[in-house]
Amino acid sequence: MSQTSLSSAERLFVGVAEQEVEVVVIKAAVSIRAARQNDGPAIQALVSGLSLKSRYYRFFFPIHTLSDEMLARFTHAYPESEVTLLAYAEQDGREVVVGMANYVVEAKSGKAEYAIVVADAWQKQGIASRLIKNLICIASTAGLEAMYGDVLAENTGMLRLLNKLGFSNDAHSDGAYLRSTSKSLEIYPWKCAEWLKLAPAA
Ligand SMILES: CC(C)(COP(=O)(O)OP(=O)(O)OC[C@H]1O[C@@H](n2cnc3c(N)ncnc32)[C@H](O)[C@@H]1OP(=O)(O)O)[C@@H](O)C(=O)NCCC(=O)NCCS
Repeated sequence: MSQTSLSSAERLFVGVAEQEVEVVVIKAAVSIRAARQNDGPAIQALVSGLSLKSRYYRFFFPIHTLSDEMLARFTHAYPESEVTLLAYAEQDGREVVVGMANYVVEAKSGKAEYAIVVADAWQKQGIASRLIKNLICIASTAGLEAMYGDVLAENTGMLRLLNKLGFSNDAHSDGAYLRSTSKSLEIYPWKCAEWLKLAPAA
């Protein structure tokens, strides 16, 4: 397919996929790109290497291995319905996935439900905020109105991150153990241009 026949969201998505721009974090250079079909084993390794706590915070269940169906969803991306971004680093000459953020559009509402996880050893270096900002840019360019997600109330790190990114944090109808978070998406081309540049962390 030629670039000109793509929608603006697809072009932006291809841009992210092809950029593989470098994000400088404390440990090493980390790049962000869209997940590809052959990323299944690397995603599986990310999930199986998570601490129990991180796995529970991400999946609300101590899942150890992703099903083939889940892996297939994470490795096929369509900006109008679902997108997965990966953060990866080179370790011992090979690519290691150190973070993953995705959204799935709920058909009824047209809103995107996000989820994110960063490998334990790579947390608190700005990887999650960069992944989410990229996800927001792709979702807003795809014309999606809002991004939302449920977060465990005890997951204060994630709630703090979301607060910084302008997400609301409300009571959840399922109970006090959950928080309902969301953010309206608008198109701010200048902001996305800034975010997608992924300038080195100060
Ligand atoms: C929550 C999570 C995604 C954050 O990833 P991260 O890469 O460490 O986040 P960042 O480094 O981008 O943090 C950005 C901001 O979030 C906040 N934050 C992140 N983790 C935090 C923690 N454990 N405690 C306090 N604040 C935290 C900080 O305010 C930070 O701002 P700073 O740069 O001023 O310190 C990561 O801890 C994780 O994968 N947890 C397990 C899965 C999960 O909770 N997913 C969310 C539900 S879908």
